[in-house]
Amino acid sequence: MDARALETEAKSAIAAASTVEELDELRVRYLGRKSDLKLALREVRDREAGMALNAAREAIESELHSRSRRLEAEAVDRRLSEEVVDITLPGDVASRGHYHLITQIRREVEDVFLGLGYQIVDGDEVEDTWHLFDALNMPPGHVTRSPLHTLFLNGDVVLRTETSPSQIRVMETHEPPVYMVSLGRVYRRDTPDPTHVPIFHQVEGLAVDRGITLADLKGTLLYLMRALFGAERRVRFGTDFFPFTEPSLQASVSCFICEGVGCATCKHTGWIEMGGSGLVDPNVLANVGYDPEEFSGFAFGLGLERIALLRHGLPDLRQLWQNDLRFLRQF
Ligand code: DAH
Repeated sequence: MDARALETEAKSAIAAASTVEELDELRVRYLGRKSDLKLALREVRDREAGMALNAAREAIESELHSRSRRLEAEAVDRRLSEEVVDITLPGDVASRGHYHLITQIRREVEDVFLGLGYQIVDGDEVEDTWHLFDALNMPPGHVTRSPLHTLFLNGDVVLRTETSPSQIRVMETHEPPVYMVSLGRVYRRDTPDPTHVPIFHQVEGLAVDRGITLADLKGTLLYLMRALFGAERRVRFGTDFFPFTEPSLQASVSCFICEGVGCATCKHTGWIEMGGSGLVDPNVLANVGYDPEEFSGFAFGLGLERIALLRHGLPDLRQLWQNDLRFLRQF
């Protein structure tokens, strides 16, 4: 066969091809397994003829290659000039998350106390019984020392049931005056139900200075309650008992739902209980090496879930843990 003639014929066919599909057909026709060239190559007996045929094959291959590069480039040029991108169209909106309701409340409370000049302190969720019980003036037989109430990890290592040990940790490492709040998780051996979850959050507050009185406690809680529940709020105290405060007080806020008239949320009293508080027991001050004759202090502890429940009328605290976005997105 005439390798030269074949090459010329193939080259002009390739030059005339205007689509990738046509090129594919030409590749089959001239270089395919059943092409004249491949059949001739198989029959070759002498070196001369073999070299001529191979030269023709290489030439056709390289012609196919460069023609296909050319066609691809033309296709790109065509798309660039024909397709118009409208850069003024709105893009895909990236969906943005937000903080969990409890985190929002936590930050709100932190902001209130930062504004009052308090320090925000991280406590430890894993505590020892000295900081959780003894230093807080709890006698050996106190109920929360029972493993039925408290999750013991190992010997005297426990999951804290309240944020109060943060008071001890701060006083052990800081000289008075102390103005601090500590917010975080606490753990109790409770079965979940609409008003209990075994892991919840508290804000602990502590102020120790010369001449601190109950009036300071009341004014501070009033400021917090107004920030959380509205400028019209009032605060009142009832008596209570906690081992680490003397006197101990239950702080209540005037009902923000009925404005004191009486409703289901305030159980028709006009007041809603917010949490425990009091003046720091002198024994606690002595436990950390503070002189109770020179310094006095107030402390309080409130549940963040309770704030959420009251403010948003949550029917079931367990929803805070179920990660159902239809619920969480409401806040
Ligand atoms: N730790 C108490 C609780 O979990 C709350 C509390 C009461 C904290 C009185 C205080 C306080 O700091 O002074 O029920």
